[in-house]
Amino acid sequence: MGTRVANKSRNPLAFITISIFENHYCCFHDRLRLRVSVRQLKPFHGLYSTLTGRENLQSPYQNQIQFLKSVRDQCKSRSLRNVDHALDMFDKMLHMRPLPSIDDFNHMLGAIARLKHYPGVISLYKQMESLGISPNVCTLNTLINCFCHLNHLDFGFSVLATILKLGYQPNHITLNTLIKGLCLRGHIAGAVRLVDEMERKGYQPDAFTCGTMVNGLCKIGETDMAIRLLRNMEEGNFELDMTTYNTIIDSLCKDRSVTEALNLLSKMKSKGIQPNLVTYNSLIQGLCNLSWWREATTLLNEMVQRKVMPNVLTFSILVDAHCKEGMLMKAKEVFGVMIRRGIEPNTVTYSCLIDGYCLQNKMDDAVKTFNMMIERGCLPNLFSYNILINGYCKNKRINEAMHLFREMSNKGMIPDVVTYNTLIRGFCLVERLQAALELFHKMQDCGECPSPQTYAILLDRLCKNKKIGEAMTLFQEMEDEKLDHNIVIYNILIDGLCNIKKLTAARELFNSLPLKGLQPNVWTYTIMIRGLCKEGLIDEACELLEKMDGNGCSPNDRTYNTLIQGLLQGNETSKAIEFVKIMVGKGFSANASTASMLIDLLSADPGDEVLKELLQ
Ligand SMILES: *[C@@H]1O[C@H](CO)[C@@H](O)[C@H](O)[C@H]1NC(C)=O
Ligand SMILES: *[C@@H]1O[C@H](CO)[C@@H](O)[C@H](O)[C@H]1NC(C)=O
Ligand SMILES: *[C@@H]1O[C@H](CO)[C@@H](O)[C@H](O)[C@H]1NC(C)=O
Repeated sequence: MGTRVANKSRNPLAFITISIFENHYCCFHDRLRLRVSVRQLKPFHGLYSTLTGRENLQSPYQNQIQFLKSVRDQCKSRSLRNVDHALDMFDKMLHMRPLPSIDDFNHMLGAIARLKHYPGVISLYKQMESLGISPNVCTLNTLINCFCHLNHLDFGFSVLATILKLGYQPNHITLNTLIKGLCLRGHIAGAVRLVDEMERKGYQPDAFTCGTMVNGLCKIGETDMAIRLLRNMEEGNFELDMTTYNTIIDSLCKDRSVTEALNLLSKMKSKGIQPNLVTYNSLIQGLCNLSWWREATTLLNEMVQRKVMPNVLTFSILVDAHCKEGMLMKAKEVFGVMIRRGIEPNTVTYSCLIDGYCLQNKMDDAVKTFNMMIERGCLPNLFSYNILINGYCKNKRINEAMHLFREMSNKGMIPDVVTYNTLIRGFCLVERLQAALELFHKMQDCGECPSPQTYAILLDRLCKNKKIGEAMTLFQEMEDEKLDHNIVIYNILIDGLCNIKKLTAARELFNSLPLKGLQPNVWTYTIMIRGLCKEGLIDEACELLEKMDGNGCSPNDRTYNTLIQGLLQGNETSKAIEFVKIMVGKGFSANASTASMLIDLLSADPGDEVLKELLQ
């Protein structure tokens, strides 16, 4: 009956009347012992409550209307946050007779898509289809959106075909959704083709289309192309909106092209488009990131003049940036200004300040701020706990860190991989390897997956403690878990093997890298060179240095210092001096220990002019 009902939905009134008769009268007529004709429906409801004597008891029909109204309200106000709840409601809708209108279904599908439950939307759509509920363009647009998010662009396009087959006209949303899908996957060329096609078919791309393209380009780092597109759009008769400008400005700031971003701000203002809080926050973040304090302050003043009031995010950016630069006094000042202005700091602001104190090892102040945050009614979250735990760990106060760890668990907060890594590192720092390993196992028992970093921390400690056997076992475990391979892990192991004079095993591991799809980095080479020098294999070490250069990995000051020290220890003085020259030529200098070895050499042979010159 679904199809018929859906077809009747064109005339909602007729549809409701007939359906009520079909569905409800039949169910209730036995109880009421009444024969009500379709035309007598109005009295029906009155009668219903009169007969039951319960004014408040509503007829199922009214219940249904109210339910659907509440569904619409919840969807519109975006207050629907729980997927299961949404799915329950949808199920209820599917079982309603009469079936709710397609608009009601669309609202629900849209809400579920907003909850990012894309596969859910697709399966619900299939259920609707099986009930014969005809979709409209809006339904199909939602479906396209979900396919795009699931990286099934092909299905997205086949839905477009369905739209055409059903005789509907795709609208701007249809095309913009597809373009957005293409852009998000980096198929910019495809997006451009679609825009062309769209224009040929008479759809003028709108500001949203262009904004989508700009956004897509920015996301894949093609900011230049985005700016070119923006210019083209400006030349055409496009009304560019603030959002488009904001997107590009934000992207430029993230690319650290802040000057270009400021230019765009001027352009935007000259076109009479008022920058808003989002614009200013992006720019202030970008400027602070580069420590351009003066420009940031200018912008802050400008926004206040333009009556765009800085919000808690603006202040948090400023507090964070000052803290990261070690400018704690300034950060506290900003914090004070914020409170005086009546802007209540949030968890992020407090956490930034706490982090600032931790960075300077001022744990007492960090804790004070943490407590102040709680006193002012701002509940610490995982992020704040992680920061404070990290502060304690770095200060080798592992017991206090563990105390916080237990406190957060008692509060029902679930520690994440960052928490565990911080604590494991903390235990390693105070040489409590056993406790670190215990926590590592606890982490796994609690269902938290160790990250490559977790393994790196533990492997590093195991190697430093010369427990290479245990390290190799752990490494094997990591390989079995198929965790992302990571050159850092190999560097640690190769170094560990070199340090216990297992050069053959180290070399094997080093040579196995290409097979694992990994490129040795400058650290890997330096570690190997050090290992070779230690074993007196100076020639092989020199060869490796040339090889790395040939492989597009430039040696750095550490590499040179390592090799030069190896050469000096091996009494290969002239070769060492040769490399000192090369190193200096590349703008690097001998570090303290290399320099002292060279001075020793000079004092043994004060007549060595070359050495004298080099040491000047
Ligand atoms: C600030 O710098 C960090 C690290 O360099 C970067 O990850 C972040 O995206 C930058 N933010 C902005 C807005 O420039
Ligand atoms: C100098 O460099 C060598 C090789 O990288 C290193 O082992 C040593 O610790 C460095 N010395 C100083 C004082 O930085
Ligand atoms: C380098 O020379 C010193 C002194 O001449 C000597 O004691 C040392 O054994 C030599 N080292 C090597 C590796 O040949």
